[in-house]
Amino acid sequence: MTTRTADIEKAAAVLRDGGLVALPTETVYGLGADAENPAALARVFQAKGRPPSHPLIVHIAGAERLGDWVREVPATARLLAARFWPGPLTLVLRRGGRVSPAATGGLETVAVRVPDHPVALALLSAFGGGVAAPSANRFGAVSPTTADHVRAELGDAVDFVLDGGPCLVGVESTIVDATGDVPSILRPGGVTREDLEAVLGRSLEVDSTGRTPVPGRHPSHYAPRARVILVEPENVVAEAELAQESGQRVGVLVPSSRAGAPVKAHTVMAVPESPAAYAQGLYGILREFDRRGCDVVVVSLPADEGLGLAIANRLRRAAGPRPSR
Ligand code: TXA
Ligand code: MG
Repeated sequence: MTTRTADIEKAAAVLRDGGLVALPTETVYGLGADAENPAALARVFQAKGRPPSHPLIVHIAGAERLGDWVREVPATARLLAARFWPGPLTLVLRRGGRVSPAATGGLETVAVRVPDHPVALALLSAFGGGVAAPSANRFGAVSPTTADHVRAELGDAVDFVLDGGPCLVGVESTIVDATGDVPSILRPGGVTREDLEAVLGRSLEVDSTGRTPVPGRHPSHYAPRARVILVEPENVVAEAELAQESGQRVGVLVPSSRAGAPVKAHTVMAVPESPAAYAQGLYGILREFDRRGCDVVVVSLPADEGLGLAIANRLRRAAGPRPSR
């Protein structure tokens, strides 16, 4: 992967013309459009099959530009931006006049972040404005962590794909609502709750129940085609073999505590060693189960701490509201 200056300039020109650019970030690939261009933003929703009421994240080149996009920058937001940007943290703040209402789903707030990826930062600097970018996947599906994932899923719906190599964090940004006096986590992600709490000197509620201020409910998200079954770690192997015996093609993600035990399943993969490696590999693993034609995926949840919180959140959402054993 080499991203040339010419590619960055071409991508910036596509954005200026109202086109769509897939861009690498440290979390996942985004499907970017000019955050001030309603027609371009409409194309993002169309390409993703996403309801226009579901707001996008505006990506900017640096914390010093935050004031251009929000009405005010409260002290908490200033502190978090100074500490975690560029990085996998998104701040929800009261929106300024510059961002198109088409990007915010008509909300009075806007989500903003500075991604920690040299290609994304080069593009944002060359473009100069804000780039509204959801993850570059079809609505509800697994987020892309390579340029190939984007091409396979969105194809011609994207005008230009910037290849920045595989994403290093692998799960989306942590979203913090910083509009009020008491910040809260709307979505766990690449910046851990513990790190946020250490900087803020207070504990943070996690409001990851999907109670974002958007109309409609979208229960199943981050989901592969295969049905995801969540079980306790000690039951993963038995559950996988049961499903396999019933004639289904079973993918199983074996926790390290069970590594080495033989498993009768169609596709067996080991949970990566560290939480960081697990987060980085998660979406690729879910895609691989689909690629191998699995009907179901049996997996256990990591503990809700550190990056495990984001991983568990994605797996719960992938499993959806179906009863899990
Ligand atoms: O890591 C990421 O955040 C990636 C990369 C591309 O930056 N982007 C991403 O975007 O995950 P998306 O669209 O897949 O998820 C954005 C989330 C949605 O769940 C949306 O509801 C929430 O951000 N969001 C956006 N604006 C919001 C707002 N004003 N208030 C509350 N939630 C908001
Ligand atoms: Mg997404």
